[in-house]
Amino acid sequence: MKKAIVALMMVAFAGTAFAADVIEMKKGVKFNHKAHQTSVGDCKKCHEAAPGKIEGFGKDFAHKNCKGCHTDMKKGPTACKDCHK
Ligand code: HEC
Ligand code: HEC
Ligand code: HEC
Repeated sequence: MKKAIVALMMVAFAGTAFAADVIEMKKGVKFNHKAHQTSVGDCKKCHEAAPGKIEGFGKDFAHKNCKGCHTDMKKGPTACKDCHK
């Protein structure tokens, strides 16, 4: 039974576009993409168009999108040092 679930999950993940599990960003930010795919679910929360590189990604996008969602959901870091290690 467990094996069947794992196999199903692997099929589901194989169907999504490839992305690194953890993306290293500027100023010591480690973004766990895979964990966010699970906890957030909806790709469109971060990828307006097709999943992939985000046009104009940088400080402004990050502080609005990343911090904004953490504040809204009351989950995830909102202090500078918790994202910038
Ligand atoms: C919490 C935000 C968030 C969610 C949710 C999210 N992504 Fe991403 N994703 C990112 C960020 C940030 C990047 C890096 C963008 C950049 O560097 O331009 C990225 C990059 C990617 C890339 C390019 C990776 C690379 O190495 O070039 C792919 C493909 C991708 N995401 C697919 C997905 C898919 C499919 C989903 C939904 C199952 C998803 N993402 C959900 C934030 C997210
Ligand atoms: C749509 C909502 C949403 C967006 C957008 C989002 N996050 Fe998160 N993030 C979460 C949630 C929810 C958690 C907590 C997950 C948990 O504790 O189960 C979290 C946790 C984290 C954590 C701590 C846990 C870990 O994975 O290391 C870091 C660091 C983090 N987010 C960075 C980012 C960065 C950087 C971005 C933007 C590129 C981002 N997040 C965008 C919802 C979001
Ligand atoms: C939710 C996580 C998060 C929080 C909280 C956060 N940042 Fe950021 N910050 C990021 C991300 C992600 C980037 C973009 C990294 C990239 O472009 O690769 C960024 C970019 C920056 C940059 C630009 C770096 C560069 O070289 O382009 C500065 C400066 C910065 N942040 C300072 C701060 C300060 C000061 C605070 C607190 C007031 C803060 N950040 C809070 C995630 C965060």
